[in-house]
Amino acid sequence: MKTRLIVVAAFICTVCHFTEAQLLPVKPLNTTITNTTCGTTKLCVSSVPNCDPAGNSSCFFTSAQFNNGTLTIEMSGTTSGYVALGLTPTASPLTQIGNVVFVCGNNKSNAFFETVSQNGSTLTPAAVPAIISPNVLGSTNNQTLTQCAISVNISAIPFIPANVPLLFNLTILNGTTNGTDLGPAATVFNSSGTLDLANPMSNIPQNTLNITRNGCGSTKLCVSSESGCNLTGNSSCFFSSIQVKNQTFSIELSGTTTGYVALGLAKQNTTFVFICGNNNNSFFFQTATQNNTNLTTANVTTVYNSQGVVAQNQTLIQCIFNTSTSFNISTKADDTMYNVTIMNGTTNGTDLGPAATVFNSSGTLDLANPMSNVPQNTVLLNITRNGCGSTKLCVSNESSCNLTGNSSCFFSSFQVKNQTFSIELSGTTTGYVALGLTKQNTTFVFICGNNSNSFFFQTATQNNTNLTTANVTTVYNSQGVVAQNQTLIQCIFNTSTSFNISTKADDTMYNVTIMNGTTNGTQLGPLSVRFNSGKEVDLSVTSTPSSNSSNAITNLCTNVLAVLLSALILYL
Ligand SMILES: *[C@@H]1O[C@H](CO)[C@@H](O)[C@H](O)[C@H]1NC(C)=O
Ligand SMILES: *[C@@H]1O[C@H](CO)[C@@H](O)[C@H](O)[C@H]1NC(C)=O
Ligand SMILES: *[C@@H]1O[C@H](CO)[C@@H](O)[C@H](O)[C@H]1NC(C)=O
Ligand SMILES: *[C@@H]1O[C@H](CO)[C@@H](O)[C@H](O)[C@H]1NC(C)=O
Ligand SMILES: *[C@@H]1O[C@H](CO)[C@@H](O)[C@H](O)[C@H]1NC(C)=O
Ligand SMILES: *[C@@H]1O[C@H](CO)[C@@H](O)[C@H](O)[C@H]1NC(C)=O
Ligand SMILES: *[C@@H]1O[C@H](CO)[C@@H](O)[C@H](O)[C@H]1NC(C)=O
Ligand SMILES: *[C@@H]1O[C@H](CO)[C@@H](O)[C@H](O)[C@H]1NC(C)=O
Ligand SMILES: *[C@@H]1O[C@H](CO)[C@@H](O)[C@H](O)[C@H]1NC(C)=O
Ligand SMILES: *[C@@H]1O[C@H](CO)[C@@H](O)[C@H](O)[C@H]1NC(C)=O
Ligand SMILES: *[C@@H]1O[C@H](CO)[C@@H](O)[C@H](O)[C@H]1NC(C)=O
Ligand SMILES: *[C@@H]1O[C@H](CO)[C@@H](O)[C@H](O)[C@H]1NC(C)=O
Repeated sequence: MKTRLIVVAAFICTVCHFTEAQLLPVKPLNTTITNTTCGTTKLCVSSVPNCDPAGNSSCFFTSAQFNNGTLTIEMSGTTSGYVALGLTPTASPLTQIGNVVFVCGNNKSNAFFETVSQNGSTLTPAAVPAIISPNVLGSTNNQTLTQCAISVNISAIPFIPANVPLLFNLTILNGTTNGTDLGPAATVFNSSGTLDLANPMSNIPQNTLNITRNGCGSTKLCVSSESGCNLTGNSSCFFSSIQVKNQTFSIELSGTTTGYVALGLAKQNTTFVFICGNNNNSFFFQTATQNNTNLTTANVTTVYNSQGVVAQNQTLIQCIFNTSTSFNISTKADDTMYNVTIMNGTTNGTDLGPAATVFNSSGTLDLANPMSNVPQNTVLLNITRNGCGSTKLCVSNESSCNLTGNSSCFFSSFQVKNQTFSIELSGTTTGYVALGLTKQNTTFVFICGNNSNSFFFQTATQNNTNLTTANVTTVYNSQGVVAQNQTLIQCIFNTSTSFNISTKADDTMYNVTIMNGTTNGTQLGPLSVRFNSGKEVDLSVTSTPSSNSSNAITNLCTNVLAVLLSALILYL
């Protein structure tokens, strides 16, 4: 500290001599002072918020722009007197400069510029250290408008390191002139706090909307690019929440982007997109249709109450809006099933750049169900190959495929005790996995399905690839899970051996198929066969004499004709 003070004192003695005259030479102003880049390239303050320095109504305005070590200041006042800018440094090392007041005035229709000191409303001509003495770029007045532009070479001030925030309290003063004499100063603007002259946004409130994760999974459905990401933090986070009430979607959308964040709701090949964007630091809302990465403006008349902000120095966009549930895609007022995406992209004004997808539900979500994307019962049922061939009969599409893994695996096991089938069924599918038991041209099907991440069990009859719901009264104790991010369905259930096809209580001979297909809610799409025993199998026999030969055939066929595998019985 001591060392620094000595250095500064030495500097002032050797480098800083004070300017002799306070009036600085002027030349005509060769630019128009405008407010168009306020908040983007320059910091602006004014007597009336957002007033136009080139306009007709009373406006006392100054701007500051810091670029490559040079601070450029514009001053403008609708006056035949003077407009002055008071700068009070509020932090070290700038405080070494002391208070500075720049005056831009009208001397009988000649513009003048000078530096002064302020004591209350009295302004007295005073020199500033030469090192901060401004270069007057130009000035003008015509009795109704007085303007000056100056620059200060901050990089030449030795005690101010590069990239130090230029923290000052600002005032704008005005008053009359008589020649170059200055009448009493009136304060027409006070920053009431410190501003950074190097930061164009430093006086723009960075309010965000109150979008939080509170209520996610309970009162609202939430989706985001990164699970749990901080909505207002520094790292990338795209988030949306949806609440359905009274046939209205209430939607929150937030994204760390300088361009736009968009929510896509898709159904039957049509995606409607709700866009919250940044048009040069102003918020805009728009709706569009999507074709790949192209967003094309399209009206959604049912949207109301949209509001939003561009915040955090144009790195965060947040908005909330409502739309009736019957908007352009669906005409059904109570339709809440959609595939959901979050996208982002650049903006040029309100033009939208190509959309990049940062979240995709990859399946239908029920927007009315806050839990519809929250994994339910992700604890898997304990379905394993333990006991295959000894305590239970097992069949699967691949003889040793991983029941909990990522690659295709369809598996079922049977145990027969006390004239009851205990059945395990597992399939890597997002829709349904089904077990078909066939006898005398009739197939009864036991279905374990995914209804928007919720498990359901159903029985049906089969006609080619169609499944038709049919009750099997002898089924009991069915339970199941939709797991692994909706890519795996597992279930266990019991049925008495005398169910709808066979009336004989001890009949255990059936042709066995494992099938899968898509679901839409609990509706079942056409089935695909994943395993077919090809003949009737005795489900009560866990290990049959033919198992070895079957395995031998399996091994042969693996190498020769893999295609036939699906038709083989795997007695394990
Ligand atoms: C510029 O001035 C006009 C007129 O007062 C105003 O509508 C506009 O918001 C101002 N722009 C900025 C960036 O302050
Ligand atoms: C930045 O300033 C330095 C010296 O003040 C000058 O040499 C250089 O050309 C300037 N760069 C730009 C991009 O204006
Ligand atoms: C205006 O004048 C300044 C200094 O007098 C000069 O640096 C600048 O290039 C001029 N601008 C135009 C547009 O003539
Ligand atoms: C003074 O200049 C401003 C801006 O150019 C203009 O709008 C205004 O009409 C001028 N006033 C007179 C009296 O010439
Ligand atoms: C100073 O600004 C105030 C508020 O805009 C205005 O009413 C007054 O006329 C101005 N004074 C002079 C001398 O221009
Ligand atoms: C303006 O200044 C002159 C001389 O400096 C003085 O005689 C005159 O009274 C002043 N006018 C006003 C209105 O103060
Ligand atoms: C800057 O302004 C704030 C708020 O008006 C005030 O509390 C503070 O004392 C000022 N700082 C200086 C150095 O004048
Ligand atoms: C956010 O919540 C706080 C505290 O509840 C409240 O003061 C503020 O006005 C809210 N902001 C908005 C934009 O709703
Ligand atoms: C998110 O980040 C902001 C800014 O870094 C921090 O103030 C806030 O506490 C964070 N919120 C949570 C929930 O972590
Ligand atoms: C439901 O919405 C309709 C139409 O917007 C409105 O008239 C009605 O008052 C709302 N009912 C409730 C309970 O909010
Ligand atoms: C959706 O697209 C698929 C593939 O392009 C097409 O087969 C199907 O008919 C389309 N459905 C609707 C409802 O347009
Ligand atoms: C989608 O865009 C492709 C080219 O990118 C175009 O061929 C196709 O016609 C567009 N589809 C619609 C429905 O506009």
